[in-house]
Amino acid sequence: MRSQLKRFIEQLDDNSVAIIPAAHEKTRSYDTEYKFRQDSDFRYLTGFPEPDAIAVITPGAKRPYTLYVRPRDPLMETWFGRRQGVEGAVKNYGADKAYPIERFAADLGKIMDGKDVLYYRFAADNELDRTLLGYFTEQRVRRLKSAYPPHTIKDPTIITGEMRLHKSAAEAKLMQKAADIAAEAHVLAMRSVKPGMNESQVEALMEAYMKDQGASGVAYNSIIGGGDNATILHYVENNMPLKDGDLLLIDAGAEYEGYASDITRTFPVNGKFTKAQREVYDVVLDVQKKCVDFTVVGNTHLKRQEYSIELLTEGMKQLGLLKGKTRDLIKKKAYLKYYMHGVGHWLGLDVHDAGRYYVDQQAKQSRPYAVGMVLTVEPGIYVPPDDRSAPAKYRGIGIRIEDDVLVTKDGNVNLTAKVTKEADEIEALMASDKRK
Ligand code: GLY
Ligand code: MN
Ligand code: MN
Repeated sequence: MRSQLKRFIEQLDDNSVAIIPAAHEKTRSYDTEYKFRQDSDFRYLTGFPEPDAIAVITPGAKRPYTLYVRPRDPLMETWFGRRQGVEGAVKNYGADKAYPIERFAADLGKIMDGKDVLYYRFAADNELDRTLLGYFTEQRVRRLKSAYPPHTIKDPTIITGEMRLHKSAAEAKLMQKAADIAAEAHVLAMRSVKPGMNESQVEALMEAYMKDQGASGVAYNSIIGGGDNATILHYVENNMPLKDGDLLLIDAGAEYEGYASDITRTFPVNGKFTKAQREVYDVVLDVQKKCVDFTVVGNTHLKRQEYSIELLTEGMKQLGLLKGKTRDLIKKKAYLKYYMHGVGHWLGLDVHDAGRYYVDQQAKQSRPYAVGMVLTVEPGIYVPPDDRSAPAKYRGIGIRIEDDVLVTKDGNVNLTAKVTKEADEIEALMASDKRK
């Protein structure tokens, strides 16, 4: 049994059962599917890679871990790929028992009757919700006296979220690898981009590199935004030509063994920042470095956000984007016009990873950073192209710089330091032989 699952079981109430589903395949077009990706919690706990499985975990039982899986089926496997089957679930994934998934609904009485607590996340898997509600409905109708259904339902992601938030040394190593692959892909992009290239070519180049280096692919849809496309936060069309004199914002990360990296760099298409571009860039870079330094044990997530707002508001004043007293501007949220997102998020199996940002249910106390957390640091300034109140030279400039940082006992490790963010170094790299 995986150590994660063992630790999860230790945290479950006595006389409870947890039901944790795998992801399902999702239709992309008619009868073809998106490439399958396992549910992050399911992967974290079981490591089982196939769709349509369910883990049933019964703490206190001699054999607490049951997997319901797609059974072996020569015809299906010929058409759609190999399956572990019940044998593989036990032999290769450490399940104490395994059954065909088709049996799950019929087994629910056996699984749940007489348990006090059910750990299940409702409203994440509609089909399974209906199956479980079917069991409860039947119980109510039959009014069994001999065995009652669970009377308390708890969300297991409260436990898995906490666990996933604190990365083990082994996880940190995988995240470093995910970060390295993406960082190298960003360096490759810097070395390759030239005016006239299409955003899609940059995307192809980076994603090919990631897969070549062992990543399963990208951790999220890459954002490759030339010119004022960079001012659209989730620009993913990635299909426009790159123009001489424009900046290019690339937000792209790799997924390695399930773990995400998440990097943004912004650099000039022709290899040389204009004066105006450089002015905005240096403001964002200065804020980004300060926020990296702020990402240490004890500082809270909310404090870091406030810090980024304060620094960026100052920077916007310096650039002439905002005018007035910093305190008033912050109070009025004037910065939102140019900086409208958070300065970062947890990173792990999901790019916006599991775990609560507040330590209390009322969202009053922001969580202090602790050893083993991984966060992004990604301030930005985005000046809308039609913003008549901004100096003309800055209109249409969008700059974000994003690193991934592991909190350690004596500070932090920047997992994505391999890709430079210093403007001079970017220019030097872009001036190197590949471009001639
Ligand atoms: N790429 C998504 C994000 O930066 O949060
Ligand atoms: Mn990003
Ligand atoms: Mn991010």
